[in-house]
Amino acid sequence: MKPMTKPVRCQLSPSLALIKYWGKRGRQHIPATTSIATSLNALHNSVTVAIASKDELQLNGQQLSAVVVKKYYLPFLDHLRAHLRVSCHFAIDMLLNFPLAAGLASSSSIFASLTLALTSLCNYRGSPATLSSLARQGSTSAARAIFGGFVIFPAGARAARPLPLPHHWSELRIIVAITDHSYKRVSTRPAMSVVQRSSFAYRGWVWSAQKIATTARAALREHNLEKLGEAMRASYLGMHATMLAARPPILYWNENSIKLIHLCEDLRLRGIEAWETMDAGPQVKILTTQQHVPRIMREIEGLKGVKSVVSELGVAPQIERLATVAPKELVELVCR
Ligand code: PMV
Repeated sequence: MKPMTKPVRCQLSPSLALIKYWGKRGRQHIPATTSIATSLNALHNSVTVAIASKDELQLNGQQLSAVVVKKYYLPFLDHLRAHLRVSCHFAIDMLLNFPLAAGLASSSSIFASLTLALTSLCNYRGSPATLSSLARQGSTSAARAIFGGFVIFPAGARAARPLPLPHHWSELRIIVAITDHSYKRVSTRPAMSVVQRSSFAYRGWVWSAQKIATTARAALREHNLEKLGEAMRASYLGMHATMLAARPPILYWNENSIKLIHLCEDLRLRGIEAWETMDAGPQVKILTTQQHVPRIMREIEGLKGVKSVVSELGVAPQIERLATVAPKELVELVCR
């Protein structure tokens, strides 16, 4: 495969799981539970890649340290090189418009956009499933972020796939309430492995996860927000329960996370659909419909130190368009 001479740029949004995966099977980042996710259009990262004499990575204009590159990026880059049968190195420039490693799924969009950009740079045309599987080597959630719109990543699978809804659900919105911009206390990989090793709640979580995912799929088909919201709550609260029961326990929530959870409860009691979810971090993402956004935003503004962003949900799987474009035209891959 002869790499392209021009740099390639790719922009993607992170994959927010409405139904979570938490825990892995084996050593290949295969998810232990089924996740259902959507891309968050308001957040995105862009990566520009070019051939270089050694691997050099920049994030938001700052060179990444050798330790960070070795720990988080090299295993992914080496796997990709082996798969593509290339020995070249890459200059990688990444820009994020949202906080990194703070529970906003930054690794999902970073590794998915790297996969698309680097495979294009190397003139490699894999199927969407192969690209999703390659992205999984960077982070499991990146296998989902390759696709826009709703995506399912079944337990035990190597790749995610699009989950198109029979009818477009255009009113859905997600409010991302950012309670803390700092790096998360424990990164996802060690957190999952502590939980799998030591949490008495982990088996119960895996046992209940499939039923929750099936309910969520039905709710998406029926456009039933209450049913979806209840499944989302069962999923994220169950996931965090496994962390609280781990040794040592892991608690990502802060004071404002708890205030936001209670706020959503109060709003629902007042007939306003506000269904929260959380990942491995203190941020709270609230699923609602367009009509309730101004009211919920006003309520959030009352909480000191919380900043929120409203996002539409990705609607179309962009990968199909990308996969059919000739490599020469792939110099700019803007996937929104
Ligand atoms: O695959 P990772 O390392 O980005 O972990 C993602 C874990 C959660 O965000 C908590 C759940 C999920 O399904 O995205």
